[in-house]
Amino acid sequence: MGGEYADAAARMSAEHLRAKQFYEAGRFDEAARECRTLLARDPHDSEANHLMGLVFYRQGQSQAALPFLQRAVASGRASARAFSNLGAVLSELGDLDQAISAYHRAIDLDPANPWPLNNLGVLYRTRGKTDAAIDALRRALSIKPDLADAQVNLRLVYSTIVPQWHFAMLNDSARNDAYEAAIRRAVPGKRVLEIGTGAGLLAMMAARAGAAIVDSCEAVGVIAREAASIVARNGFADRIKIIPKHSTGIVVGRDMAARADILITETFSSNLLDEAILPAVEHAHRHLLTDRATLIPRAASAMGFLIGGEAVGGMLSAGRIKGFDLSSFNEFAPPRLVVPLDGVAFAALSPDVELLRFDLTETEFRMGGHEVALPVTGTGLCYGVAQWIRLDLDDAVQYSNRPGGPGGGSHWPNIIYRFPMPLIVSAGETLRVFARHDRAEINVNLLAP
Ligand SMILES: C[S@@+](CC[C@H](N)C(=O)[O-])C[C@H]1O[C@@H](n2cnc3c(N)ncnc32)[C@H](O)[C@@H]1O
Repeated sequence: MGGEYADAAARMSAEHLRAKQFYEAGRFDEAARECRTLLARDPHDSEANHLMGLVFYRQGQSQAALPFLQRAVASGRASARAFSNLGAVLSELGDLDQAISAYHRAIDLDPANPWPLNNLGVLYRTRGKTDAAIDALRRALSIKPDLADAQVNLRLVYSTIVPQWHFAMLNDSARNDAYEAAIRRAVPGKRVLEIGTGAGLLAMMAARAGAAIVDSCEAVGVIAREAASIVARNGFADRIKIIPKHSTGIVVGRDMAARADILITETFSSNLLDEAILPAVEHAHRHLLTDRATLIPRAASAMGFLIGGEAVGGMLSAGRIKGFDLSSFNEFAPPRLVVPLDGVAFAALSPDVELLRFDLTETEFRMGGHEVALPVTGTGLCYGVAQWIRLDLDDAVQYSNRPGGPGGGSHWPNIIYRFPMPLIVSAGETLRVFARHDRAEINVNLLAP
């Protein structure tokens, strides 16, 4: 609970003070007895109801505490602490909306107390209201910068909008170099749109390479605001405009002056499509780009090979372990496993093949798929198809996170599309898989021989 019983001394009789002393000494039965005497005299006694509610709350009886705290705040003289404590009880009972209202009342009555703001931030985070959570927690820290709870809670909220991989991504020098090489060749004198600003790295690469103007959009408001200040700090505020919007909400003439000649985007997940890149690119072609716009990257592919190796089997299935047969547990094994394969002793049992290719200069992407033949080049147990991504930044530059390849150490993990059962394969045969996408995710399934 973010606050304790208020010492509203002016309103307290000797019995009130005695009850308070018992409560503070942890002598809850005696505190309750004093409160009952007070409430028998006046059932609306705000302080006695508040204290009685706290006695129950401290004994783990939130349901019993609730009516007392509700009566405590019903009087026009209720303290901020009574509202704050009501908020704590309501949130413990799972009534988050009412708890949020109670904390707001506590904050109105005592705006200098950081605790109700901290607790409000936690509830907004639970509710998924990220901007409101950040606002409340930042306000708590502006009152008490060293409030450790609020510091941790704020960082937990940030981690929901800026996942851990974002930092590995920013430091992925192979990715950064590939983008910068293509950006340098394409952008001088051009009007650029970037979808997905993040910290502003690619937008600043474009501005530094001589783009006439860079419009860069970021769907997450807090990230967009931070990117705008990073851009200003690095001296590019005159050439880069951060648009704090999802790309599909941008209107030319309002958010950006004119259609862009170049689209830069790095909104790829490890299976390419999770960040809804296809609808965003379709929308950009229709509404935000000139007819012959250049796209960086111009194409993105899901690549794959048949995978085997004991270490891989250990990640994907269970068999005899410690002398027990656990094989039926394989029923629950996921069809797709996200795993960084660099550093894993895998065996490639086929050549690399292109499973699916997305030419981003096209204006429409239909869901669908096709059969892919994988010639087997090794002998052993095959567990499925390993997948990585390849980005064709332009005619000259490619980036790939092929496991064990030159992009080794990529921040993008790989994916294994796991066969229902491991297969024994021999060099010379061919396996057939079906690779398909529904515009949001990719799947690869084994076809019957
Ligand atoms: C993978 S990060 C890349 C950040 C930056 N471009 C870089 O390469 O360092 C993608 C960012 O784009 C944002 N984003 C993804 N799709 C978007 C869209 N269609 N419109 C606006 N922002 C988007 C996400 O919120 C995230 O911050």
